[in-house]
Amino acid sequence: AVVEHTFNVGNLSISQLCQPARIITAVNGRLPGPTVEAREGDTVVVHLVNESPYNMTIHWHGVFQRGSPWADGPAMVTQCPVKPGANYTYRFNVTDQEGTLWWHAHISFLRATVYGALVILPRGGAGAYPFSPKPHREETVILGEWWNANVYDLQQQVFLTGDTTRMPPADAYTINGKPGDLYNCSAANQTYNFRVRSNETYLLRIINAALNTPMFFKVANHTFTVVGADAAYTTPYETDVVLIAPGQTVDALMVAGAAVGRYYMAASPYDSAIPQGPQFSMTNGTAIVEYAGSAGEDKPQLPPRTEYNDTDTAFRFLSNLTALVLPGKPTVPLSVDTRMFVTAHYYGDDASAGVYTRDFPDRPPVIFDYTAVASDNDTLKYTTKSTKVRTLRYNETVEMVLQNTRLIAKESHPMHLHGFNFFVLAQGFGNYDEAAAAPRFNLVNPQERNTVAVPTGGWAVIRFVANNPGMWFMHCHFDAHLDLGLGMVFEVQDGPTAETSVPPPPMDLPQC
Ligand code: C2O
Repeated sequence: AVVEHTFNVGNLSISQLCQPARIITAVNGRLPGPTVEAREGDTVVVHLVNESPYNMTIHWHGVFQRGSPWADGPAMVTQCPVKPGANYTYRFNVTDQEGTLWWHAHISFLRATVYGALVILPRGGAGAYPFSPKPHREETVILGEWWNANVYDLQQQVFLTGDTTRMPPADAYTINGKPGDLYNCSAANQTYNFRVRSNETYLLRIINAALNTPMFFKVANHTFTVVGADAAYTTPYETDVVLIAPGQTVDALMVAGAAVGRYYMAASPYDSAIPQGPQFSMTNGTAIVEYAGSAGEDKPQLPPRTEYNDTDTAFRFLSNLTALVLPGKPTVPLSVDTRMFVTAHYYGDDASAGVYTRDFPDRPPVIFDYTAVASDNDTLKYTTKSTKVRTLRYNETVEMVLQNTRLIAKESHPMHLHGFNFFVLAQGFGNYDEAAAAPRFNLVNPQERNTVAVPTGGWAVIRFVANNPGMWFMHCHFDAHLDLGLGMVFEVQDGPTAETSVPPPPMDLPQC
């Protein structure tokens, strides 16, 4: 089937947190924007009509875009921006993936308000999920960040100065666009209400659309069974806390099994980056789970807070997920053509961050301590070379070691690859040590992701098969870092047939 939408991107007047009404950029006058729901195998057609004052593009985060690389959306990578007053039609298939993905603006910091869910149901519909119990209902839960300032202006400040400290922390965390009533002067109509019935099962499709903040997600007195992440099914995993980094999604079943009442769902920051303590809002972004039959005025209960620097809890969640192995699904490649060792540095003396990749034979000596604090004149901090484009042969198998460094502080960079899922074979802390890590690679049921939250002060090993010709962005999904250049592009060459080659660009592809 064809699923067709028109996205009118334009001004929306909105008032949150007691601020006078102000104008944000939003799709179809809504925050979040519309949910695109399709079935596996469908064709999605979205007409973007840019009525906003800004250049615009939309990225379909996690969609493989096989045969449709021109629809991927990152500005200046696969397309020039759609100028104010102009249109562009995104046309692509959603095949070989099921679950929750999302879409967002891929230019400036405009994805702060230009985002929404992309739900891919099985071909057979919701009855065909490979997990049980079958949910009675589904609910999209999009975590976000809200700034009282104009995000386009914020981006200009960061970009023109190269100074991320000019990116102020968000004024609030949001759930489905609303901050919740724990913030000063945040009214009840700025709280999202999720109505449930006792003992029914809900499939929560949780998306982290925040610009710069990984989040812990909890619902008071309820637990989750995680059944998917990044639109790939996982082995069911029981937990009372979900860690979700910007760019990632988690599908979790929740049974409304608590006493009739009202309960907070809460999003709180995970950020171990700042040694001197948090410089961001410590208020939970909240929504309310309200049972049928509860008295509307009951004060909801809050879930116990996970500390902002609780790396153990974050790592436990992220490293315990494994894939649900299903017949006919791709399995992890056991041989590797190309190995890459990737670190983040400041590049040259222009103080822009860059991805620095080295082939294994050329890697720095093991004695190099990536987790040490980098001083200003340190080669760890400033490198004279960085990788911008890396060419891969069609069907080449790539293994990447993503090593976090400590440029300013230890951080967990959420590294996102366009055009592919990759398998996460192993993750750990400190300096990557191949001899110790390789025997622990999960080559049986590693989780599939399009975004990996590389452990803070640590590393992750991923593999993928370059079976999708095109230009594919790989970057940190913290927008503050992406803007400083923490990204690179894979150029995947054409395969032997027309089907495995990049098609000609569509007629309406915007010109620069
Ligand atoms: Cu969701 Cu290039 O990003």
